[in-house]
Amino acid sequence: MSRTVYILNGPNLNMLGKREPAIYGGHSLADIEADCRESGARLGLTIEFRQSNHEGELVDWIQEAGNKANAIIINPGAYSHTSIAIHDAIRAAGLPVAEVHLSNIHARESFRHTSYVSPVAAGVICGFGPVVYTLALQALAERV
Ligand code: DQA
Repeated sequence: MSRTVYILNGPNLNMLGKREPAIYGGHSLADIEADCRESGARLGLTIEFRQSNHEGELVDWIQEAGNKANAIIINPGAYSHTSIAIHDAIRAAGLPVAEVHLSNIHARESFRHTSYVSPVAAGVICGFGPVVYTLALQALAERV
């Protein structure tokens, strides 16, 4: 049976490529999706790749993943630092979750140093740019 990984992206990540390239680099979210699809195919994983600027929609997708997927990769964007709702949804989904960030959130402003997602993630990868997504796929392929 094919194993499915939901890759969920939070607010402003649709702006990648144009948004603060000195921090986030020049890759668009479509480039990252293409990398994930290639890597997923190699690892035998079906990829469901989505982005939303809305917290509730991300919560809906985490709940959906709980019924349909084997694992989740999430870049919650700024909701990492604020969202108890996403934290709770991840706990309830009961799936292995990899939290990813393009930038090293610990080397930035202090308000980015806390993530409500990290305590409910199986692991966190941050700071290496777009490769964090494919590293997370590799890590989860071992688990699912
Ligand atoms: C981010 C880091 C967050 O602090 C920020 O709000 C983002 C992107 C990252 O990928 O580096 O939107 O999650």
